[in-house]
Amino acid sequence: MHALTLSPTTGVVVTGGASGIGRACAHALGAVGRPVAIWDRDAEGARDAAGEIAAEHGVATMSATVDVTDASRVDAALGESRDALGTVGGLVHAAGMVIPQPVGAIQWSDWDATIAVNLTAHAQLVQAMHGDLVANPGSAVVAIASIEAMVGHGAIPAYCASKAGLVGLTRSLAMQLGPLGVRANAVCPGYTDTPMLAPTIAMPEVRAHMEASSVLGRLATPDDIARVVRFLLSDEAAFITGVALAVDGGVTAID
Ligand SMILES: NC(=O)c1ccc[n+]([C@@H]2O[C@H](COP(=O)([O-])OP(=O)(O)OC[C@H]3O[C@@H](n4cnc5c(N)ncnc54)[C@H](O)[C@@H]3O)[C@@H](O)[C@H]2O)c1
Repeated sequence: MHALTLSPTTGVVVTGGASGIGRACAHALGAVGRPVAIWDRDAEGARDAAGEIAAEHGVATMSATVDVTDASRVDAALGESRDALGTVGGLVHAAGMVIPQPVGAIQWSDWDATIAVNLTAHAQLVQAMHGDLVANPGSAVVAIASIEAMVGHGAIPAYCASKAGLVGLTRSLAMQLGPLGVRANAVCPGYTDTPMLAPTIAMPEVRAHMEASSVLGRLATPDDIARVVRFLLSDEAAFITGVALAVDGGVTAID
């Protein structure tokens, strides 16, 4: 059972919760007693994560097979999550995708898919959850953006645009929702050891470059990111809204 409790204790929806950063966020939240709904298009991974968190932390969990770009499925999964968790007072939008395609080689269907999953879905999720968030004191949402919202990368223009868009969206949400008692923040992870980065860090020279670009000399673990997300969803962060917080081991602090 969890030794530490952080208020509020409402349920949290975690998209992309089957893997990597999303899964670590769901674990971190479960560890302080928050019920979690794991939404992912990977049904098996989501089920596995929900079972693991319930067993380890003794909190209510549920899993739902959801493509976050499917608005009707989002509405249905939200109803299922409310039923399973009792309340929904938080969101972590960690579902994301990246397709390396520099300008000159962009496939517009891939561009649209990247913007839809990484950026548009966050607005749609918050819109769907608006009533729940406003009804539950201490509600907050966190978008998983990226350091590529802050610095450019020539190989992934759609990804950079989607993540910078999340930071703008977060500021807008903070302004609209703050008076209603709901906070909105973004976390910008640096290079993090997850399945998404696996093909890249399998190249030893690329991994070495990424490790050296952090002043702390290593990649982030998913838990490094998850602990910050958990903090932003808690009342410990009651006066933080509208920020894009780099959790990158100093990558963006130096040139
Ligand atoms: N790994 C890094 O270095 C890094 C750095 C900065 C930001 N991020 C961001 O962190 C987030 C999590 O990435 P990760 O590294 O944990 O990757 P990951 O591949 O381990 O996890 C991503 C999850 O999102 C799910 N997903 C993808 N598209 C979906 C959709 N349409 N609907 C529902 N689920 C969907 C996948 O099934 C997967 O479980 C992403 O938004 C990513 O852009 C990652």
